[in-house]
Amino acid sequence: MNPPAPSIVILGTGSYLPERVVTNDDMAQLVETSDEWIQTRTGIRQRRFAAEDEHTSQMATAAARRAIEDAGIDPAEIDLILVATMTPDMPFPSTACLVQSQLNLPQCTAFDIQAACSGFVYGLNIATSMLQSGNFNKALVIGAEKLSGILDFEDRTTCVLFGDGAGAAVLGRSDTPGVGMIGGIGGADGSNPEVLCQPGGGSAIPPSINSIDQRQHFLKMNGKEIFKQAVRVMGQASTDLLQKTAVDSQDLALIIPHQANLRIIDSLTKRLGVPAESIFINLQDYGNTSAASVGIALDEARRAGRIQTNDLILLVAFGAGLTWGASLLKWQ
Ligand SMILES: CC(C)(COP(=O)(O)OP(=O)(O)OC[C@H]1O[C@@H](n2cnc3c(N)ncnc32)[C@H](O)[C@@H]1OP(=O)(O)O)[C@@H](O)C(=O)NCCC(=O)NCCS
Repeated sequence: MNPPAPSIVILGTGSYLPERVVTNDDMAQLVETSDEWIQTRTGIRQRRFAAEDEHTSQMATAAARRAIEDAGIDPAEIDLILVATMTPDMPFPSTACLVQSQLNLPQCTAFDIQAACSGFVYGLNIATSMLQSGNFNKALVIGAEKLSGILDFEDRTTCVLFGDGAGAAVLGRSDTPGVGMIGGIGGADGSNPEVLCQPGGGSAIPPSINSIDQRQHFLKMNGKEIFKQAVRVMGQASTDLLQKTAVDSQDLALIIPHQANLRIIDSLTKRLGVPAESIFINLQDYGNTSAASVGIALDEARRAGRIQTNDLILLVAFGAGLTWGASLLKWQ
């Protein structure tokens, strides 16, 4: 018989938000919109935008530095770096490689995960499996985005929704059985990629004067369709994982959903039949920060005292792809 898998726990968390606060009124200076419209449809009041010379890797590095400090580990122990992002500094090398250098970490395994807004949850699940394999000791999982760089500030249906930032976690093993990452689930359906995508800049539509003229290098979204899919897969991923781990939704101390839209989160609350107080929400301050969103929320929840020892916590996300993922953990 195989020995039981070791407990994989989150040893520390960190986040970073750029300084510049952009309110809904500020957005109304750029496109025909209003604070009232944005708040009613999404719950967002403001977002942060990175400075022009501030890159995704730098935000990732700042969040990671805080997570390492919080974990109280020697950075030299890190032997796996995963960065979830859809706005890397450049197509290659990976942002994970740039973070390795900026933090002067060991020359370990480092790569990016492209699962859009589900990226941080995918990252936690992947890192857990890699640590459980026994081949790695400590993992740094980061979600980081500079979405302001791919937003079309002439398209009011998308540009008001997103923001920049980074969230990070350090994962390692624990001798205490039954704590840490209890289960993970992920999925993807690539049959309708155009519902949410950045069509230009890759091998299908390489960057050209034409692709720029046609604004193909900006994020495009069918909001209504993604809304429907989001409501469906957030609920399904959550209930599938609870079933797989034999946990009742009433036993969850905290649910940290991807912070895209308050109405999507409300439908998840109803589907799980949990009290509104058990859901962590900070999208009013940051908008949708894609792969960074769950990592930032996890860090803020911890620092706000919303997470205690032995709390069962569900993280759940969806994003372009379509992708979805959920992780269940018991805080050690
Ligand atoms: C984008 C979203 C907020 C739009 O809300 P909605 O209730 O579906 O709104 P609609 O698209 O029906 O638009 C309603 C009207 O508001 C207008 N509108 C769109 N954006 C607007 C804006 N920023 N300000 C003012 N009006 C706006 C539309 O043009 C439309 O006008 P019309 O009826 O005259 O055509 C919503 O669909 C959504 O949140 N979708 C999910 C997006 C998401 O989560 N993406 C990230 C996935 S990780």
